[in-house]
Amino acid sequence: MSFTRITAAEAAAMINNGDNIGLSGFTPAGTAKAVTTELAKKAHAEHEAGRPFQIGIFTGASTGQSADGVLSNENAIKYRAPYTTNPDFRKHVNAGEIAYNDIHLGMMAQDLRYGFLGDVDYAIIEVCAIEDDGRVYLTAAGGISPTIARLAKKGIILELNAFHSPNSKGIHDVYEPLDPPCRKPIPIEHVTDRIGTPYLQIDPKKVIGVVECNLPDEARSFKDADPITDKIGENVANFLMNEKKRGIIPPSFLPFQSGVGTTANAILFALGSNPEMPQMEIYTEVLQNAIVDLMFQEKVKCASTCSLTVTNDKLLSIYDNIDFFKDRLVLRQSEISNNAEVIRRLGLIAINTAIEVDLYGHANSTQICGTKMMNGIGGSGDFERNAFLSIFTCPSVAKGGMISSIVPFCSHIDHTEHDVNVIVTEQGVADLRGKCPTERAKAIIENCAHPDYKQLLWDYLKIADKGQSCHKLSAALAMHDTFLREGDMHKTDWGSYIK
Ligand code: COA
Repeated sequence: MSFTRITAAEAAAMINNGDNIGLSGFTPAGTAKAVTTELAKKAHAEHEAGRPFQIGIFTGASTGQSADGVLSNENAIKYRAPYTTNPDFRKHVNAGEIAYNDIHLGMMAQDLRYGFLGDVDYAIIEVCAIEDDGRVYLTAAGGISPTIARLAKKGIILELNAFHSPNSKGIHDVYEPLDPPCRKPIPIEHVTDRIGTPYLQIDPKKVIGVVECNLPDEARSFKDADPITDKIGENVANFLMNEKKRGIIPPSFLPFQSGVGTTANAILFALGSNPEMPQMEIYTEVLQNAIVDLMFQEKVKCASTCSLTVTNDKLLSIYDNIDFFKDRLVLRQSEISNNAEVIRRLGLIAINTAIEVDLYGHANSTQICGTKMMNGIGGSGDFERNAFLSIFTCPSVAKGGMISSIVPFCSHIDHTEHDVNVIVTEQGVADLRGKCPTERAKAIIENCAHPDYKQLLWDYLKIADKGQSCHKLSAALAMHDTFLREGDMHKTDWGSYIK
């Protein structure tokens, strides 16, 4: 069967107000982009004509400007899950205009299959090659594509994007687990084990049309490393080397998962350049630029990921050197890259960045001052909860020092004290393993807080009511409250909060 070619505008014309669409990709990598751009134009026209037009969007993770950006700006998104990094989308979420559901990325496909999130009407999937029998080859990410393709009730639209080289064919390992009570063990024992197929088999009868396009990926580049992120990287590397010396980490080391963002990139560089570090293995959801460089330098032996969230020059260098990468790199679905069973079996060292952490080891990855969404939890919960060693990093201060990232109580909690082993800032390392809450608080203030905020935090402990976790509830969020009122956490006056 050869599939009908349609334009992106024709595809968008089929999608109606109230429909739910599922998008391929994970981060802007591999995300369908042509049809969503046209959908935004359709939404604009419908709104101009006085008709409602809003859709639900299910994705693997964040998307780029051509999906979350343009659609949120046209007030075309009714519901959206999971992760997002788009600044325009963030603005509309924080204005309360979009029902945004921040789900663990490893759970997204499963939640759809279980029927927790409603129907998938259309799946829009970016591919680099199509066979007549319905075998299609995904591009820069595994995402939730098999699940949305199978669940799509009204059909599948394929975006055949010539930007992605069909050379990359073999890089994916496509696998969708069965649901309980029939689920089988996921037989990944080593980072690059392959358990599925290099293609996604879709039902050819469900394909509504193929949209041909040539659109680059929209992965953002991060801020350059700076002395603070470099110091965090160095602290993480030294801590881990010491754990190896103590025999806690085996001499051959364990695979790494590393989070998203500037700090994460700097940490990977620091680990890769540490002379005592054996060749690294990576089992992660997002492969950033740093890893590609370390793979070329053979400091990273192999990597499993859900997406190639790299700048376009790096992506093309992977495609150009595909023979080098095929044995070393595997792209998986998010429910496999982030799978609790596999993460525990491999014994990952998980390193993610928090917005803030509190004195007892809770971490906030998602919301500024308790109310404003930054990006979402991403896969940090999937990895940190199940890792061999769970590490959170953050600079000790934010916004030019006006905010301390170490606070008495997080203004929003994504990771509880039970799931966080180690906190690292540029000031040092707080090893929380085996410590009670009071011991944790001391370790975090002594080792991780910025010197400008240490006394303020010690003073909080003095006014706190005694208990398993010592708190003065009326003052627990006083540093945030002071920042919101006065723009500076230094000005916190505990006395005015004691009731
Ligand atoms: N209070 C207020 N704002 C804070 C803050 C705090 N305690 N800590 C950081 N910020 C702000 C920064 O100022 C910056 O704002 P800006 O964009 O206006 O400059 C923004 O948050 C991002 O911080 P940055 O220092 O640039 O860090 P980053 O690029 O390393 O990203 C996270 C940090 C937490 C936003 C990012 O790691 C994330 O989205 N994490 C959640 C998802 C995740 O962990 N996924 C893991 C698996 S890939």
